[in-house]
Amino acid sequence: HTPWPGLIEAYRDRLPVGDDWKVVTLREGATPLLPARALSELTGCEVHLKVEGLNPTGSFKDRGMTMAVTEALATGKKGVLCASTGNTSASAAAYASIAGLECAVLVPKGKIAMGKLAQAVMYGARIIEVGGNFDDCLELARKTTAEYSSIALVNSVNPVRIEGQKTAAFEIVDALGRAPDVHALPVGNAGNITAYWRGYSEYHADGIIAARPRMLGVQAAGAAPLVLGAPVKDPETIATAIRIGSPASWNQAVAAKEESGGQFRAATDDELLEAYRLVARTEGVFVEPASAASVAGLLAATKDGWIERGSLVVCTVTGNGLKDPDTALKGVPEIASVGVDPVAVAAAMGLG
Ligand code: F0G
Repeated sequence: HTPWPGLIEAYRDRLPVGDDWKVVTLREGATPLLPARALSELTGCEVHLKVEGLNPTGSFKDRGMTMAVTEALATGKKGVLCASTGNTSASAAAYASIAGLECAVLVPKGKIAMGKLAQAVMYGARIIEVGGNFDDCLELARKTTAEYSSIALVNSVNPVRIEGQKTAAFEIVDALGRAPDVHALPVGNAGNITAYWRGYSEYHADGIIAARPRMLGVQAAGAAPLVLGAPVKDPETIATAIRIGSPASWNQAVAAKEESGGQFRAATDDELLEAYRLVARTEGVFVEPASAASVAGLLAATKDGWIERGSLVVCTVTGNGLKDPDTALKGVPEIASVGVDPVAVAAAMGLG
């Protein structure tokens, strides 16, 4: 039994990594593909959750970041820069710390979850708040890195980010022995849907899978440019991770949807929160609100018949719920307060 080496070593023959490059890894990847019993029962499908919140910094971003920071180091960069709604910044900060590179993160002021900010602080990144949204941050990151060649841009507009993230599709196929019928995932800047589609397409081209899944990309209703077919100027949603009005990988996301016979869908904040609570209470998986978009999409699409009963469905849940304790605690019913009294405890449990 050899320990998991991280995704670059595991899928090296499918990734653009130089033979002499020093690999920057936190042993990301190899996340659980968890059979979701309650969701399967509820929908009449065979549902699995790809639990990406169990990556080293708690989100799927680590898959792209091991590649981006490995490349930055190998090509002699001095620092890395990203725009972020939180998870990319946490991931960039962690990988830069072990690579010995400077890291700065551009985040929309007041619109990132507390746990993500705490991560970037602890990993030693310089945090720069921008009085604008993610789209403004990304524009600033692009301009800065275009002018300063010693700074690598580690957003998903960097093609090696997508290369790293495509490995999640490989893992799913390696686990299931086939591709799912439908793959549902949250969509913000649209890098991840691009990456999954590339991963499935590469396995398909090599004859490893006979068919590719239909891609179901789910956006928050207040930040749903791909559903509307036009950028959204002032995106708004409780799911701050996907509060994005102008996705950088727009064309690739549309290609993934069209080539797969897929669909973009919007979920309201209420639907996101309902799915967020459901997946925690019934599957024991605590995700962040944006991550519940895949589950909200599954519920809606099985209800209206776009996903047929009996389908094999994978929902990617992209980030760990611990990143956003504020949203979790807003839903707390009533906290019982007792003295050192077993009778009161049993009564509070309704089992007295
Ligand atoms: N889910 C989570 C938890 C995310 O953090 C993101 C994106 C997405 C889904 C959407 O993925 O952008 O590839 O379509 N977060 C970025 C960030 C924007 O800065 O952390 P996407």
